[in-house]
Amino acid sequence: MAQQFDVAVIGAGPGGYTAAIRSAQLGFKTVCIDDWKNAKGKPSLGGTCLNVGCIPSKALLESSENYERVIDKFPEHGIRAKDVSMDVATMLARKDKIVDTFTDGIALLFKKNKVASMHGRGSFVSAGEHYRIQVQDGERVDEIEAAHVIIATGSVARQLPGAEADGERILDNVGALALSEIPKRLGVVGAGVIGLEMGSVWRRLGSEVTILEALPAFLPAADEQIAKEAFRVFNGPLDLKIYTGVKIGEVSRGKKSVAVSYTDRDGNTRNVDFDKLIVAIGRMPNTTGLNAQAVGLRIDERGFIEVDEHNHTNLPNVYAIGDVVRGPMLAHKSSEEGVAVAETIAGEVSHVNMDTIPWVIYTSPEIAWVGKTEQQLKAEGIAYRAGQFPFIASGRARALGETAGFMKMLAHAETDRILGVHVIGPYASELIAEAVVAMEFGASAEDIARIVHAHPTLSEAMHEAALGVHKRTLNI
Ligand code: FAD
Ligand code: NAI
Repeated sequence: MAQQFDVAVIGAGPGGYTAAIRSAQLGFKTVCIDDWKNAKGKPSLGGTCLNVGCIPSKALLESSENYERVIDKFPEHGIRAKDVSMDVATMLARKDKIVDTFTDGIALLFKKNKVASMHGRGSFVSAGEHYRIQVQDGERVDEIEAAHVIIATGSVARQLPGAEADGERILDNVGALALSEIPKRLGVVGAGVIGLEMGSVWRRLGSEVTILEALPAFLPAADEQIAKEAFRVFNGPLDLKIYTGVKIGEVSRGKKSVAVSYTDRDGNTRNVDFDKLIVAIGRMPNTTGLNAQAVGLRIDERGFIEVDEHNHTNLPNVYAIGDVVRGPMLAHKSSEEGVAVAETIAGEVSHVNMDTIPWVIYTSPEIAWVGKTEQQLKAEGIAYRAGQFPFIASGRARALGETAGFMKMLAHAETDRILGVHVIGPYASELIAEAVVAMEFGASAEDIARIVHAHPTLSEAMHEAALGVHKRTLNI
């Protein structure tokens, strides 16, 4: 007889492993099925985020930033370093060690929480009172049954037709995180989050980086003023060459380079040669091998599993979370949906507030935001007031030597309720948390203006931006 579970989770990315742990904490007999194998062919929990996404990319961003600091920033502190060099192999080994620590850590968390872990591809066999799921790992095939199923199968990189990733010349996120040498000329297709983060890593290490973006606007999801400042800094001091409004034509791989032909925003045809080309043009929901049709699971025309606001699919007791469903493709969105679904199964009232999900881009300066942008408020006809504070006026930012960027708060013109906070500047990724808490508690700009912020800290910029909403900044 097939093994019986209360909850079967398919996928052990941040959505799936969190859903499995929370389900087990709530007393359900839980199994988590995952098919990821790392470069050494070893099962590795944690999905895209831990293996080839959030964690390794941040490790490389840190290494490359340190390298740049030694060369560009240390001299003004009076620190002189001779013969500075970059050992890419050591940098990659450090990244891999961090990844292994975390992926192994999930196995330990599963043990601690009594989550059964099965390696292999999960696919639906049949529906009924219980769902029958096959788990296949090479020749080995097992079957289990579960009363509830949580699908957390994530996403895969979108490929550019004619320029599919080959791991050699043309790279997706997996290849971009594992380049064993610093390419002299690096091309990137797509000025989105991966393009900017990975472009930053390799530019800091010495590559000449050209980013080709199809849309005429740069970072259209961000607040326009922030995107404008980012474009100025990235193209200027940061030396990423970003071209928007381009149309990629033929891409041909040679033995030592890859030639890209594109039409620029003025309609001129351009031909460029790169040593490596990263293609980062978005990600697609992954339902490959799930055998959705066996149980009539509904998938929309873009490939996302259809769910309601509680992540319930069209099937009784089947839920889907994370990148494989609507909403931002972010690790923290996936994991919070995982918690909410486990609690829903347990009969609790739980939900994820999509209006307060923070976004972070880990460039230098970092970019982060939560809530509405100024252009959204204008389009929706919402009356608002804006307050702003530049980091150049922050004592802490000066001491850090990171003065580019600003903090901006948008609040309702009548109620003063905070509607959005946007940051470009040092540690924006950490600063945004205060704004998320404030918005979750329905805070007004005045609330933040009345809270004591330690001096000298970067968080004073939030305080000053809140004061700015009422035109009473003190330090600018
Ligand atoms: P995934 O992490 O994709 O996990 C899905 C898992 O399911 C995988 O292990 C997959 O092998 C497995 N699976 C799929 N189908 C089956 C099946 N049929 N049977 C068994 N197993 C299956 N987000 C952030 O919030 N912050 C960041 O800094 C960040 N950086 C990123 C950097 C890069 C380079 C990339 C590519 C992504 C980054 N993301 C970041 C996005 C983040 O990685 C995803 O949003 C997140 O991993 C989604 O989690 P998930 O659990 O939905 O899916
Ligand atoms: P993205 O959606 O952020 O950016 C893709 C970019 O490619 C867009 O600007 C798009 O207009 C452009 N594009 C699409 N087709 C194109 C074409 N044919 N030619 C040129 N440009 C084209 O996607 P990306 O960077 O691949 O990242 C995928 C997702 O992973 C992100 O949306 C995000 O959800 C997640 N992620 C999150 C990170 C974070 O939170 N810091 C870091 C990295 C990824």
